[in-house]
Amino acid sequence: MTRTLIRGGTVVAATGSFAADVAIEGERIVSLLEPGSSITDAFHADRVIEATGKLVVPGGVDVHTHMEMPSAGTISADTFASGTMAAAWGGTTTIVDFASQVREGSLREAWDVSMSKAEGRCAIDFGLHMIVSDVNASSLAEMDSMVSEGVTSFKLFMAYPGALYSDDGQILRAMQRASECAATIMMHAENGIAIDVLVAQALARNERDPRFHAATRPSSLEGEATHRAIVLAQVTGAPLYIVHLSAAEALAEVVAARDSGAIVHAETCPQYLFLSEAALEGPEFEGAKFVCSPPLRHGTHSDALWNGLAGGDLSVVATDHCPFCFKDQKELGKRDFSKIPNGLPGVEHRMELVYQGVVEGRISLERWVDLTSTTPARLFGMYPAKGVIQPGADADVVVFDPAGSRTISAASHHMAVDYSCYEGFTLTGRVQTVLSRGRVLVDGNSFVGEVHGGRYVRRSSPPSVLSPGK
Ligand code: URP
Ligand code: ZN
Ligand code: ZN
Repeated sequence: MTRTLIRGGTVVAATGSFAADVAIEGERIVSLLEPGSSITDAFHADRVIEATGKLVVPGGVDVHTHMEMPSAGTISADTFASGTMAAAWGGTTTIVDFASQVREGSLREAWDVSMSKAEGRCAIDFGLHMIVSDVNASSLAEMDSMVSEGVTSFKLFMAYPGALYSDDGQILRAMQRASECAATIMMHAENGIAIDVLVAQALARNERDPRFHAATRPSSLEGEATHRAIVLAQVTGAPLYIVHLSAAEALAEVVAARDSGAIVHAETCPQYLFLSEAALEGPEFEGAKFVCSPPLRHGTHSDALWNGLAGGDLSVVATDHCPFCFKDQKELGKRDFSKIPNGLPGVEHRMELVYQGVVEGRISLERWVDLTSTTPARLFGMYPAKGVIQPGADADVVVFDPAGSRTISAASHHMAVDYSCYEGFTLTGRVQTVLSRGRVLVDGNSFVGEVHGGRYVRRSSPPSVLSPGK
């Protein structure tokens, strides 16, 4: 069993930071040692990683990715192999992706399909949520058996009528079942019925450019859907997690619900913190690179989101990584914005992007770790194996250089997509070394690890789901 010592760094936890050497045996962290103590000498490491002047943080946990996902007549560009390698490059050591039920299909079939794509192919550990796109007696009955497989969260859509959409009755039923089987409901909260009317009206006026994607999905319709999802969850007692929250109106609904004691959490994504709807106006159809749902918003929303992250109203930053190449994929919507595949690449840059919040004084170092690793691990039933550096935890560890920097470019990133939303952004702080269960994957500028060593994470029902007020 390899014994690794990460020496001289500052360990950052959600609850505080302290100087410690991290001792690892095989796949696990075995102890945190006082730096320079004789116990450190007695550890007899096979491998020493020098971390003086560096931060030692738990590997990132990205609970919202879509690798090789069929959508809008194409398939998202990253495979589980390429996407998880890119994630590792950026300091993420666990993803939770989505199995997706097809209409009239079963949840079990969807899980099998995703497992056959992912198992044995991921560079880092992975779990799966389940998208329920056909809420009926038989899919409701299957939820229990999915929970036994470690799928303890189910995503529903209030958007995309005729495809992934569930109506309020279906949502209510799925929430009742989730509540019975200690699972979380994840909600894509946009009023899809109203949005489809606005989209049809825009197209009838011959408004076809990417910018009309944002114009037809106003933030108020995200706020309304978020409110409705919260009310339905309260009626059923189901724990609710709002995915990819982008709008101040939606955040206000989450704040009000949490203040009244409801079990509601929400995630936002780097694109809503760093980009704005102005990007959709780019020349020559370039705006299509920024089409995702909910859409990018006006900059005032990002300020509200940063405040929500700092103050605890938003719980998680995940990427919603759903990459489509500009060439041939985004181009499917060249004459009609509603045909542009929805989604942005981002799994590689989440940790470093969110770290800019620390650099700019918007969030603390500890909050950075909390939002990108500890709380996502906890909410989705992976803590304390994931999301923390402490004895007994998986040795998923990132050595992060706060004095380093990186300029993001499609020419140098590792995601299998031909553009970057953050092209030319220069970031302060840089991932230096990445360990996944004790194996070094990334060492400076080299990928040195096994490319298919990731394992399926059989997730539990998190305690926060069972006890209100957390
Ligand atoms: O535009 C987005 N967000 N695409 C990915 C699928 C989803 O709704 O999360
Ligand atoms: Zn969604
Ligand atoms: Zn998504």
